[in-house]
Amino acid sequence: MAPPTRLTSYADWSPRPRLGSMCGIVGYVGPKQAQNVVIDGLRRLEYRGYDSAGVALVVDGQISFDKRAGKLANLEKAIAERPLPASTTGIGHTRWATHGGPTDANAHPHLGQTGRVAMVHNGIIENFATLRARLEMAGHELRSETDTEVAAHILEAELDKFGDLTSAMQAACRQLEGAFTLVAVDAQDPTKVVAARRNSPLVVGLGDGENFLGSDVAAFIEHTRDALELGQDQVVTITRDAVEVTTFDGAPAQGRRYHVDWDLSAAEKDGFDWFMRKEIFEQPRAIADALLGRHAQDGRLQLDEVRMSDDELRTIDKIIIVACGTAFYAGLVAKYAIEHWTRIPCEVELSHEFRYRDPILTRSTLVVAVSQSGETADTLMAIRHAREQRAKVLAICNTNGSTIPRESDAVIYTHAGPEIGVASTKGFMTQLVAAYLLGLYLAQVRGTMYGEEIGAVIRELGEAPDQVQRLLDEAPAISDLAADMREARSVLFLGRHVGFPVALEGALKLKELAYIHAEGFAAGELKHGPIALIEEGLPVFCVVPPGGRGQLRDKMISAIQEVRARGARTIVLAEDGDEAIAAYADVVVRLPKVSTLLQPLVAVVPLQLFACELASLMGHDVDQPRNLAKSVTVE
Ligand code: AGP
Repeated sequence: MAPPTRLTSYADWSPRPRLGSMCGIVGYVGPKQAQNVVIDGLRRLEYRGYDSAGVALVVDGQISFDKRAGKLANLEKAIAERPLPASTTGIGHTRWATHGGPTDANAHPHLGQTGRVAMVHNGIIENFATLRARLEMAGHELRSETDTEVAAHILEAELDKFGDLTSAMQAACRQLEGAFTLVAVDAQDPTKVVAARRNSPLVVGLGDGENFLGSDVAAFIEHTRDALELGQDQVVTITRDAVEVTTFDGAPAQGRRYHVDWDLSAAEKDGFDWFMRKEIFEQPRAIADALLGRHAQDGRLQLDEVRMSDDELRTIDKIIIVACGTAFYAGLVAKYAIEHWTRIPCEVELSHEFRYRDPILTRSTLVVAVSQSGETADTLMAIRHAREQRAKVLAICNTNGSTIPRESDAVIYTHAGPEIGVASTKGFMTQLVAAYLLGLYLAQVRGTMYGEEIGAVIRELGEAPDQVQRLLDEAPAISDLAADMREARSVLFLGRHVGFPVALEGALKLKELAYIHAEGFAAGELKHGPIALIEEGLPVFCVVPPGGRGQLRDKMISAIQEVRARGARTIVLAEDGDEAIAAYADVVVRLPKVSTLLQPLVAVVPLQLFACELASLMGHDVDQPRNLAKSVTVE
C-alpha cells in the first residue's frame, strides 16, 4: 500500500468547500457484529469532540440501543454491563451538542414515536421548532430537547406512509431546512441503512459484502479505503451488496468514488497536516452554522437560547464583556459594534482583572462572558462575581453544556463545532458572529436600529462564508509570505478601530505558534512610544480600515508612512479596489470589501494562515504549542 499522503502544502490540496462537522456518525450493514464495527468507528471519530455517545442495532424486528452522556467509555462500560443482542445492522453517534445539553436523554440515537425507526444526526435543523409544534399537535410525545428527535418522528411517520425507509427518508428530507446528515435504520428491515445529507459531511465506505457510512473516512478506514463522497441533497441506501444514491425527490444520482490514501491520523484531520489548518478552512461553514436559525422568516432576529425577556434586555444600561486571550480580542471587536448599534456603554475587561478592580455592577448591568471552551477559570470566576453583584450574565460559548453557559442567565452558542487546535481560529471567528448577533438583537429589542438596517447587516454577514472562502483559496500566497519571513525574530501588527483587536489577535497567533516576539498596537499609539521599536527590515502588518471610513484610512496611512520612513517592511491588508495603498506597501494582501465593523471577519484570516504556516515551517507542533493548554481551567 502506498505510503499515506500527508497534505502539508496547498499545492497538493484541492480546496473543496470545507464542511463543518460537529459529531461523529457511523453506519454498518454486513456480516460482522455491527456493535463492534460501530463502536470502533466512533472511537476513531472521538477527536471530533463528544459529550455523549450511542448505538442502535436492528434485532428481530426491534431496535436495540444504548446511549450515554459523557465520553465514549461511558457507553462502552454500560454495554459491557448490559450487552446488546447480536446484530449485523447498526448505527452510532458521538455528539457535539447544539440543541439541548449533553444528557442521556439528548444523546443519539433518537427513536420515532413507536420506536420503529432509530436515527442519528449531525448538523442543525433550522425549522425544527415549527416541525416540533406540528408533531405535538398531532399527538407525538417528544422526550428530548433535540432537533434530531423531531426528524426521527417525521421519518417514522413517512415510513408508516411509504412502507420503505428510502422513500421515507426522501420525503422527510424535503421537509427539513438547515444543515444535516441523517442516518437511520428501520426495525422491520435489517437489510439496509439509509442516510441523507445537506451541507454536512457524509461518506460511504464500499466493502466486499458489507458497506459503511461515516461522517468522515476515519469511521471505516480500517475496513475499506474505497469510498463514495455524496453530493448535496442526496439520499443513500446501503445494503450488504449494493449502494443506491438518489436525490431528495427520488431521482437516481451519483456519488463521487475515490480511494482513500490517508492514514488514520490524516483522516482525522480531513487530510490536513494540522487540526488548526483544518479549522481555519472550516471557517466558512462555521460562520454559516453560527448564523443558522437566527433569522426568522419575518426578518426578525431570534436568539432562542438567550432566555432573557426583551423587557429585561431593555433595562440594560451598561455592558461589560469579560474574556481572556483571543476571546478577549473578540470582545474588543464586539464593543465597537454593540456601542454603535445600541448606544449602550460597553466595557471590555480581561476576566482575571475584572473582579479585582471592584467593578461597578448593578441589576441593569449585562456581563457578557466570551469563551470557546466554557471552562476558563478566570472567566468563570468573573461571572460568579458578577452574579453575586446581581448583574445579568450572558455567555457566548462554543461548548454546549460547559460550566460558563450553565452558570449564566443566557447563552449564545457559536456552533463552530469542536475546536481541537489550541490556537483558536474558528472559535474566534464565530465569537465575532455571535457578538454581532447580540448587538443586532439588542438594537432590535431597544429600537436603536430599523429592521431594514438590521437586515442589511445580516445579509452582509450571510456573505462572509464566501468572502472567507475566497481568502482561503488565496492561502498559497500567504504561505509564500511566511516562507519569505521565516527568519523574522520580531513582527509588529498595527490596526485602527476594529482593526486594532485584529492586530492584537494576529500578534497572539504568532506568539503562541511561532514563539517569536510579536506585538499588536493601535496605530495611533505608535508615536507615543512603540515607534522606537522600528528598525530596518522589521516586518509590520498593517490592517487598513475600509475606504468607507476615509478618515480612519487616512490616519492608518500616516502610521504606515511613519514606520516605512524608519525602514519597516510593511505587509498591508487592504480592501479590493484600494489601489492607492500599494504606494505604502512592500506586500499587499487583498481583503474583500466589507463594512467597517465587519472587517475583522476577513482581516483575521490571512493572519491566522500566516502564523500557522510560519510555525509549520519552523517545525513547531501547531496543534499543541509549547506551554499552552486548550482550556485554562486554573486561575
Ligand atoms: C487563543 O488562541 C488561545 N488558545 C487562548 O488565548 C484562548 O483564547 C483563551 O485561553 C480563552 O479560552 P476560552 O475562549 O476557551 O475561554
